[in-house]
Order: sequence, then structure tokens, then C-alpha cells
Amino acid sequence: MPLTKQYNEILTLAAAITEGVPNNVSNLSNVSAILFENLKDVNWAGFYIAGEQNGEEWLFLGPFQGRPACTSIKRGKGVCGTAMAERRSVVVENVLEFPGHIACDERSRSEIVVPVFRGDELFGVMDVDSGKFGRFGEDDREGLEALAELVGRILL
Ligand code: SME
Repeated sequence: MPLTKQYNEILTLAAAITEGVPNNVSNLSNVSAILFENLKDVNWAGFYIAGEQNGEEWLFLGPFQGRPACTSIKRGKGVCGTAMAERRSVVVENVLEFPGHIACDERSRSEIVVPVFRGDELFGVMDVDSGKFGRFGEDDREGLEALAELVGRILL
């Protein structure tokens, strides 16, 4: 399906603001802000970045907008760790029913997590939360996957 007008605009904004900027933190910060400012009913938008600690795979908090969030999430845990382990997008209509959901902001009711790849390697995940049940649908998955691809291409 073609992307919605809103996601086309988000992609255009993200491409423009990241063009020629040779810094991942700057670019991920601006992409988080674009999501947070443009998507309706969103209370958190940002990135977790894959890393290692004591020989185990983790996600560590990256640039985001919203309330302070959990700093590290183990591979396979919560919605983010599931997206990491399965290398696919995870859309949760009701986070209260998702086994192992990690409640960083207790107002969150639905969530979408999309993996970000640098080549074949999983760089991290993009996570967007909403205070409304069922906020994220197929349009959002396709739009955010296109955005994650754009991010993957500009990563250093
Ligand atoms: N809810 C996520 C944790 C990250 S916060 O929503 C920002 C999870 O279950 O992985």
C-alpha cells in the first residue's frame, strides 16, 4: 500500500533535517522530535540502540521525546526486546495484555516497535507509545518501517 500523506510528510521532513548531518545522535534526536510533534495521541517516541553487556545482548536508551524511560532492555524482554529478538515490527493494541510489557510510562496503552537495520545488522529499534488503545495500525507500521529504512541508510 502507498504511504499515507502524513507519513510521506514525515519522511520528507526527516530526509531534509538529516541531510548532510554526520552524527547519529543529532539525527536520531530530530527524527524522534518529528514523530513526537507530528503524530497524534503519542506520549513517547524514540530509539533504543543495540549493545552488549556481560556477553549478553541488550537495548540501551537512545534519543527520544517523552517522559524519562527505562535505560536498558534485555533481548527478548518487553515489546522492544521482542522486536529485537524477532527482527520484525511488533504492534501492540493493548500493552496491558502483552506478556512482559515494560511500563516506562504508565499512561501508555498501545505501542509500536520497528527494528532499525544498518545493512544486515540490527542497529536498534524505533519505539512509539500512545495513551490510547489500538492507536497504531497497518498505515503506521508501513510508515514507520519506511522511516526506519531511511534512518538505517543515514546511520554512521
Ligand atoms: N514499553 C516498552 C519499553 C520502552 S518504553 O515504552 C519507552 C517495552 O515493553 O519494550
